[in-house]
Amino acid sequence: MTLSAHDKELVAKTWTKIAPKAAQIGGEALGRLIAVFPQTKTYFSHFADLSASSPQIKAHGAKVLGAIGQAVSGIDNVSASLSKLSELHAYNLRVDPANFKLLAHTLLVTLSAYLGAEFTPEVHLAWDKFLALVATVLSEKYR
Ligand code: HEM
Repeated sequence: MTLSAHDKELVAKTWTKIAPKAAQIGGEALGRLIAVFPQTKTYFSHFADLSASSPQIKAHGAKVLGAIGQAVSGIDNVSASLSKLSELHAYNLRVDPANFKLLAHTLLVTLSAYLGAEFTPEVHLAWDKFLALVATVLSEKYR
Protein backbone atom coordinates (compact mmCIF):
# COMPACT_ATOMS: atom_id res chain seq x y z
CA MET A 1 0.00 0.00 0.00
CA THR A 2 1.63 3.24 -1.12
CA LEU A 3 0.57 6.53 0.38
CA SER A 4 1.23 9.68 -1.63
CA ALA A 5 2.91 12.65 0.04
CA HIS A 6 -0.53 14.29 0.14
CA ASP A 7 -2.11 11.24 1.85
CA LYS A 8 0.65 11.35 4.49
CA GLU A 9 0.10 15.06 5.00
CA LEU A 10 -3.65 14.54 5.49
CA VAL A 11 -3.12 11.69 7.98
CA ALA A 12 -0.61 13.77 9.97
CA LYS A 13 -2.91 16.81 9.91
CA THR A 14 -5.99 14.92 11.09
CA TRP A 15 -3.92 13.14 13.75
CA THR A 16 -3.36 16.50 15.45
CA LYS A 17 -7.17 16.73 15.81
CA ILE A 18 -7.52 13.13 16.93
CA ALA A 19 -4.59 13.01 19.37
CA PRO A 20 -6.25 14.90 22.28
CA LYS A 21 -9.14 12.42 22.16
CA ALA A 22 -7.14 9.37 21.10
CA ALA A 23 -7.95 7.29 24.18
CA GLN A 24 -11.67 7.93 23.79
CA ILE A 25 -11.63 7.26 20.04
CA GLY A 26 -9.65 4.04 20.50
CA GLY A 27 -12.06 2.85 23.18
CA GLU A 28 -15.04 3.55 20.96
CA ALA A 29 -13.45 1.84 17.93
CA LEU A 30 -12.70 -1.30 19.95
CA GLY A 31 -16.19 -1.21 21.50
CA ARG A 32 -17.64 -1.04 17.98
CA LEU A 33 -15.38 -3.92 16.90
CA ILE A 34 -16.71 -6.35 19.50
CA ALA A 35 -20.32 -5.14 19.04
CA VAL A 36 -20.41 -5.29 15.24
CA PHE A 37 -18.10 -8.30 14.81
CA PRO A 38 -18.79 -10.36 17.97
CA GLN A 39 -16.46 -13.14 16.78
CA THR A 40 -13.58 -10.82 17.75
CA LYS A 41 -14.57 -11.20 21.44
CA THR A 42 -12.76 -14.56 21.55
CA TYR A 43 -9.43 -12.72 21.68
CA PHE A 44 -10.51 -10.77 24.74
CA SER A 45 -12.19 -13.61 26.65
CA HIS A 46 -9.83 -12.96 29.58
CA PHE A 47 -11.43 -9.52 30.08
CA ALA A 48 -14.07 -9.57 32.84
CA ASP A 49 -16.45 -7.22 30.99
CA LEU A 50 -16.99 -7.65 27.26
CA SER A 51 -19.69 -5.05 26.72
CA ALA A 52 -18.92 -2.29 24.19
CA SER A 53 -18.57 0.17 27.11
CA SER A 54 -16.32 -2.11 29.19
CA PRO A 55 -13.53 -0.18 30.97
CA GLN A 56 -11.04 -2.89 29.91
CA ILE A 57 -12.11 -2.61 26.28
CA LYS A 58 -11.83 1.18 26.51
CA ALA A 59 -8.39 1.01 28.11
CA HIS A 60 -7.25 -1.44 25.49
CA GLY A 61 -8.60 0.75 22.69
CA ALA A 62 -6.54 3.61 24.12
CA LYS A 63 -3.39 1.43 23.81
CA VAL A 64 -4.26 0.59 20.21
CA LEU A 65 -4.59 4.28 19.31
CA GLY A 66 -1.26 4.93 21.06
CA ALA A 67 0.30 2.50 18.58
CA ILE A 68 -1.53 4.19 15.70
CA GLY A 69 0.00 7.47 16.89
CA GLN A 70 3.47 5.90 16.73
CA ALA A 71 2.72 4.69 13.21
CA VAL A 72 1.67 8.23 12.23
CA SER A 73 4.94 9.61 13.63
CA GLY A 74 6.89 6.98 11.71
CA ILE A 75 4.69 7.08 8.61
CA ASP A 76 7.70 6.77 6.27
CA ASN A 77 8.63 3.45 7.83
CA VAL A 78 5.52 1.95 9.46
CA SER A 79 7.12 -1.48 9.29
CA ALA A 80 9.87 -0.39 11.69
CA SER A 81 7.46 1.59 13.88
CA LEU A 82 5.21 -1.44 14.46
CA SER A 83 7.75 -4.25 14.23
CA LYS A 84 7.43 -5.34 17.89
CA LEU A 85 3.63 -5.25 17.74
CA SER A 86 3.66 -7.26 14.55
CA GLU A 87 5.65 -9.99 16.33
CA LEU A 88 3.36 -9.84 19.36
CA HIS A 89 0.18 -10.28 17.30
CA ALA A 90 1.64 -13.04 15.12
CA TYR A 91 3.63 -15.18 17.56
CA ASN A 92 2.09 -14.53 20.98
CA LEU A 93 -1.49 -13.45 20.42
CA ARG A 94 -2.03 -15.31 17.13
CA VAL A 95 -4.68 -12.87 15.98
CA ASP A 96 -6.11 -13.89 12.59
CA PRO A 97 -4.97 -11.05 10.25
CA ALA A 98 -8.52 -10.76 8.83
CA ASN A 99 -9.37 -8.99 12.09
CA PHE A 100 -7.02 -6.08 11.37
CA LYS A 101 -9.27 -5.09 8.48
CA LEU A 102 -12.33 -5.24 10.74
CA LEU A 103 -10.68 -2.92 13.25
CA ALA A 104 -9.60 -0.58 10.44
CA HIS A 105 -13.27 -0.40 9.45
CA THR A 106 -14.58 0.43 12.92
CA LEU A 107 -11.79 2.97 13.33
CA LEU A 108 -12.84 4.72 10.12
CA VAL A 109 -16.45 4.80 11.31
CA THR A 110 -15.33 6.26 14.65
CA LEU A 111 -13.09 8.85 12.98
CA SER A 112 -15.95 9.98 10.77
CA ALA A 113 -18.18 10.37 13.83
CA TYR A 114 -15.55 12.48 15.63
CA LEU A 115 -14.29 14.55 12.72
CA GLY A 116 -17.69 15.34 11.16
CA ALA A 117 -17.30 17.66 8.17
CA GLU A 118 -13.49 17.41 8.46
CA PHE A 119 -13.74 13.75 7.50
CA THR A 120 -13.80 14.65 3.81
CA PRO A 121 -13.65 12.00 1.07
CA GLU A 122 -9.92 12.80 0.70
CA VAL A 123 -9.26 12.37 4.42
CA HIS A 124 -11.30 9.15 4.34
CA LEU A 125 -9.18 7.83 1.47
CA ALA A 126 -5.90 8.78 3.16
CA TRP A 127 -6.88 7.04 6.43
CA ASP A 128 -8.24 4.02 4.56
CA LYS A 129 -4.87 3.61 2.83
CA PHE A 130 -2.92 4.27 6.02
CA LEU A 131 -4.92 1.72 8.04
CA ALA A 132 -4.57 -0.83 5.22
CA LEU A 133 -0.82 -0.27 5.48
CA VAL A 134 -0.95 -0.76 9.27
CA ALA A 135 -2.94 -4.00 8.74
CA THR A 136 -0.38 -5.23 6.19
CA VAL A 137 2.52 -4.44 8.51
CA LEU A 138 0.83 -6.17 11.45
CA SER A 139 0.36 -9.27 9.24
CA GLU A 140 3.98 -9.25 8.01
CA LYS A 141 5.32 -11.76 10.52
CA TYR A 142 2.72 -14.45 9.77
CA ARG A 143 3.91 -17.40 7.66
C1 HEM B 1 -2.53 -6.05 22.38
C2 HEM B 1 -2.22 -2.61 18.97
C3 HEM B 1 -5.39 -5.03 16.25
C4 HEM B 1 -5.96 -8.29 19.80
C5 HEM B 1 -2.20 -4.90 21.71
C6 HEM B 1 -1.40 -3.82 22.24
C7 HEM B 1 -1.32 -2.87 21.30
C8 HEM B 1 -2.08 -3.31 20.15
C9 HEM B 1 -0.56 -1.52 21.39
C10 HEM B 1 -0.75 -3.79 23.63
C11 HEM B 1 0.60 -4.40 23.55
C12 HEM B 1 1.30 -4.44 24.90
O1 HEM B 1 0.62 -4.35 25.94
O2 HEM B 1 2.53 -4.55 24.89
C13 HEM B 1 -2.99 -3.02 17.93
C14 HEM B 1 -3.14 -2.28 16.66
C15 HEM B 1 -4.04 -2.96 15.91
C16 HEM B 1 -4.45 -4.12 16.68
C17 HEM B 1 -2.39 -0.99 16.30
C18 HEM B 1 -4.57 -2.66 14.52
C19 HEM B 1 -4.77 -1.46 14.05
C20 HEM B 1 -5.87 -6.08 17.01
C21 HEM B 1 -6.99 -6.93 16.64
C22 HEM B 1 -7.15 -7.85 17.64
C23 HEM B 1 -6.13 -7.58 18.64
C24 HEM B 1 -7.80 -6.75 15.36
C25 HEM B 1 -8.17 -8.94 17.77
C26 HEM B 1 -9.39 -8.91 17.27
C27 HEM B 1 -5.08 -7.96 20.79
C28 HEM B 1 -5.00 -8.68 22.06
C29 HEM B 1 -4.01 -8.02 22.81
C30 HEM B 1 -3.50 -6.93 21.98
C31 HEM B 1 -5.83 -9.90 22.47
C32 HEM B 1 -3.57 -8.38 24.24
C33 HEM B 1 -4.60 -7.78 25.19
C34 HEM B 1 -4.29 -8.00 26.65
O3 HEM B 1 -4.28 -9.14 27.08
O4 HEM B 1 -4.07 -6.99 27.35
N1 HEM B 1 -2.62 -4.55 20.45
N2 HEM B 1 -3.80 -4.12 17.88
N3 HEM B 1 -5.37 -6.50 18.22
N4 HEM B 1 -4.17 -6.93 20.79
FE1 HEM B 1 -3.90 -5.61 19.29
